[in-house]
Amino acid sequence: MIDRTRIGLDALRAKVMTAEEAVSFIGDGDTVGMSGFTGSGYPKAVPLALAGRIEAEHAEGRPFRMRVWTGASTGPELDGALARADGIEFRLPYNSDPLARDKINRGEMDYFDMHLSQVAPMARQGFLGPLDTAVIEVTGIRPDGTLVPSSSLGNNKTWLDHAERVILEVNSWQNPALEGMHDIYYGTALPPARMPVPLVRPDDRIGEPCLRCDPDKIVAIVETDAPDRNLPFSPPDAAARAIAGHLLDFFQNEVAKGRLPASLLPLQSGVGNIANAVLSGLLDGPFENMMAYTEVIQDGMLDLLDAGKLLMASATAFSLSPEAATRLNAEMAAYRDRLILRPQEISNHPEVIRRLGCLAMNGMIEADILGNVNSTHVMGSRIQNGIGGSGDFARSAYVSVFMSPSTAKGGRISAIVPKVSHVDHINQDVQVIVTEQGLADLRGLSPRQRARVIIDRCAHPDFQPRLWDYLARAERSPKGRHSPTLLNEALSWHQRFEDTGTMHVANNDDTEAA
Ligand code: COA
Repeated sequence: MIDRTRIGLDALRAKVMTAEEAVSFIGDGDTVGMSGFTGSGYPKAVPLALAGRIEAEHAEGRPFRMRVWTGASTGPELDGALARADGIEFRLPYNSDPLARDKINRGEMDYFDMHLSQVAPMARQGFLGPLDTAVIEVTGIRPDGTLVPSSSLGNNKTWLDHAERVILEVNSWQNPALEGMHDIYYGTALPPARMPVPLVRPDDRIGEPCLRCDPDKIVAIVETDAPDRNLPFSPPDAAARAIAGHLLDFFQNEVAKGRLPASLLPLQSGVGNIANAVLSGLLDGPFENMMAYTEVIQDGMLDLLDAGKLLMASATAFSLSPEAATRLNAEMAAYRDRLILRPQEISNHPEVIRRLGCLAMNGMIEADILGNVNSTHVMGSRIQNGIGGSGDFARSAYVSVFMSPSTAKGGRISAIVPKVSHVDHINQDVQVIVTEQGLADLRGLSPRQRARVIIDRCAHPDFQPRLWDYLARAERSPKGRHSPTLLNEALSWHQRFEDTGTMHVANNDDTEAA
C-alpha cells in the first residue's frame, strides 16, 4: 500500500504524478541514469511506462531509443521491459537480463562492460556524455529534502549530482528503517584534487546517511509499492559444497601458517550460486568475528550475521532471494547497525580494497593453464553478464580467488583450457583457482609451475590427459618455453565445441596430436 507520509517535504507533493505522465520528460536519444544494483533498488514503474511509450512510438514509425546507465544489473521491469521494447541503444555498466543479453550478443544493442568502481569517476570525466535524466528509487524524502536511499546505492549519488533533471520513485515497499543504514561519501574528486578515501576499517562511516538532491531538479515523483525482484539462489550442489570445502581448508591453512588472522580479513563474495555456497560453508567453519567489505550482500551473509560469525558487512546493494529479502525487511532495524550500504565507487574502491586486504572470491567461466581467467564471455564472443566488480577486487585483494565447477554444459566443456577465449583477469591478478576437484595456490609460481598445479588440482579427470599432453608438447616448442603455448591449438578446444557441441575429441583419444 502506498504510504503518503513518505514525502516529507510538502513543496514536492505537487510533483507527484503517474509513471505515464513522468515519462513525458524523457525523449528519443536521451541518456538516462537509473538506480539499481543486482535486482535491488531499481525503479519499477517509470521503466515499465517508458517501455509502453517506446512501443507506442515505434508502432507509429517513430524512433525512440536511449542510452541507459545504472549501478549494475536490475530487474525485469527495467532491463527486460526496455530490451523487449527495443528501447536501449547503449547500455552500461553491467547486465544480466537474458533479453538484453540476447540483443547485445546479436549486435542490436551496444554495451560498455566496465569495472564498477570506475563508472562514477568516468561519468565525472565527461567523455560518456551528458546525463539528461536520473530515475532513482528512494525509500522516502525527508522534510529537509534529502533522500532516504532504498536497497541499493550504486551510482545514485553521481546520477543525482550530474543529471539535468530528476524523476524519483518513492517505494513504500522499502522499509523506512533503511534510514541510517547508508553511508554516502561526498569527498570524491577527480585528480589533481582527489584525496585519500578516509576509510580504514570495514565498519567505518565516512559520509552521510541520505542523498542530497537539488529540489529544483526534481520534475516528477512517482509513488510505488513494488518489491525488488531478485532471483532465488539454488541450494548448493555437490560441486559447490566441494569448492567451499577446499576454500575453507585453504583459509585454515593460511591461518595456521600465520598468513591470515584467525578472524580472516574482510570478505568479498561475488555474484552467483557458488559464491553463496562458500558463504554457507563459512557457517560451519571455525572462523569467528569476521567482517565483509564486499559489493553485494547475499543470503549467505545474512545467515553469517544471524549466526554471530560475521560482525558486520559493508556493500553497495542487497542481492537477496525473495525469502531472505522478506526476512531482512521484517528485522531491518535489528540489522541496521551491522550493515552499511555505500556508493559503488567506495564499496569497490581499489584504494580501500588494497588497504583493508580483502579476500576476494569470485566466479569464473573458465581459466587457462597459465592462470588467466575469463569471467565474462562464452566461447570468446558471447557476453554472459560483465566483469562487474570482480576486477576491482581481484587486482587489489590480499588474496584473489576464482571458482567454478571444472566442467560446464553436462561435462561437454572443460572450465580449464589451454588458453582462455577471452581474458578479464590476467594471471598476475589470479592467485587461487578452485574447482570441485581441488584448489591451485598459484602464488609465487612461474607459468610452467602454474600449469602443472592447475591441471593437477583443478582440471576434470576426463580432460586431464589432453591438458598434460598439450603442456608437454608446448614445453618442447623451440619457439619459446616461458609460457607454454601452441598457437595453432590454443583455442582449438573452443573451436571444437562450436563445431561439434563438445570439447571432447570424437574418437575419445587422449591427445590432440592423435
Ligand atoms: N563455457 C561455456 N559456458 C559456461 C562455462 C564455460 N566454461 N561456464 C559456465 N558457463 C555457462 C553456464 O552453463 C551457464 O549457462 P546457462 O545460463 O545457459 O545455463 C552460464 O554460463 C552461467 O553459469 P553458472 O554455472 O550458472 O554460473 P554462476 O551463476 O556461478 O556465474 C559467472 C558465473 C562467471 C557468470 C558469474 O560469476 C559472473 O557473472 N561473474 C562476473 C561478474 C562478477 O564476478 N561479479 C562479482 C563481483 S563483486
